[in-house]
Amino acid sequence: MSKKIIVTGGAGFIGSALVRHLISNSEHIVLNVDALTYAGNLSSLVFVAGSDRYQFQQIDICDSAKVVETIKNFEPDVITHLAAESHVDRSIDGPGAFIQTNLVGTFSMLNGALEYWRSLSAEKQRDFRFHHISTDEVFGALSDDGFFTEETPYDPRSPYSASKAGSDHLVQAWYHTYGLPVVITNCSNNYGPFHFPEKLIPLVIIKCLAGEPLPVYGTGSNVRDWLYVDDHVRALQTVFETGAVGNSYMVGGNSERTNLEVVHVICDTLDRIRPRTDKLSYREQITFVADRPGHDFRYAIDATKLQTELGWKPLETFESGMEKTIRWYLENRDWWEAIQSGEYQGERLGLKTA
Ligand SMILES: NC(=O)c1ccc[n+]([C@@H]2O[C@H](COP(=O)([O-])OP(=O)(O)OC[C@H]3O[C@@H](n4cnc5c(N)ncnc54)[C@H](O)[C@@H]3O)[C@@H](O)[C@H]2O)c1
Repeated sequence: MSKKIIVTGGAGFIGSALVRHLISNSEHIVLNVDALTYAGNLSSLVFVAGSDRYQFQQIDICDSAKVVETIKNFEPDVITHLAAESHVDRSIDGPGAFIQTNLVGTFSMLNGALEYWRSLSAEKQRDFRFHHISTDEVFGALSDDGFFTEETPYDPRSPYSASKAGSDHLVQAWYHTYGLPVVITNCSNNYGPFHFPEKLIPLVIIKCLAGEPLPVYGTGSNVRDWLYVDDHVRALQTVFETGAVGNSYMVGGNSERTNLEVVHVICDTLDRIRPRTDKLSYREQITFVADRPGHDFRYAIDATKLQTELGWKPLETFESGMEKTIRWYLENRDWWEAIQSGEYQGERLGLKTA
């Protein structure tokens, strides 16, 4: 059945993948609400821009009057809330924007959603969903074993994860206090096409191709559980369509890798499909740099609840998803070169702790 869906942050990495997925694979009507910060890019949406089921409005979610008006006019069945400041290194250099968008912005979205929800008929109220998209980083760091589950206590460590943890608590409070029908997902590190070049995987691919040093933080032993972005957006649709109100769901890719292993896979894949002209391995470009302050050692997700209760599972292995991603960056230089010629030039971020 066709629903009307607001996607906040729909010009970002995951939001644009969700919008492309919903327009291509469902009958849903989508309104993308995005302020177009440095991370928002409408060129990620050219494939759907011509669809009569897609609309875009440039709005800062902290502008509560605009948020109320937009929700009222569009009359959504679902709000999927992805808009956020999302990069840990940037949160170390400048935490203020994270407090503003991730906390004040989420508050503004919740208030707008609640005002609208209260105006609905009982039947529409029952079917409405506010879906908040969050991260596994709110749970802090794991040592060599164990997994994050829906029961893991919150223990955020960076300004980014603290602001996301706060936003999760606000969403739960709006459910318990006001009855707003919410669902929350906490996912692991995403990767895939249209990923902003400051994040590890695209950064390494692009630096490989440019013949530049590949920066690996510390000894490269930090572990992340990688999730292919198209698997993630299928999980999001599953959760807002069939998830239980008031519940949270962990989303992970069953792909734990150390950062050094990730860089090795990129080098080895490029050695195979786009060898260096001097025939040396791209691994020659690896350089170890000072670790990120407060770098969490390991994140790993147990997504059993989402798999057993709602029937979702990832379709990509780490190797198949990485090959798709690397081929996409090789074939879409225009997209990332345009970003690189703008504000972000691939420089090191996240060293300002004093
Ligand atoms: N990327 C990951 O690996 C990952 C992992 C776990 C959770 N998440 C969460 O998923 C969501 C999306 O992440 P992403 O990687 O796509 O982020 P992103 O940085 O690529 O995109 C964020 C989008 O939000 C928009 N935005 C920022 N501030 C805004 C504001 N004040 N008003 C309106 N729009 C604003 C930006 O313009 C951008 O389009 C975030 O909430 C993030 O915390 C991401």
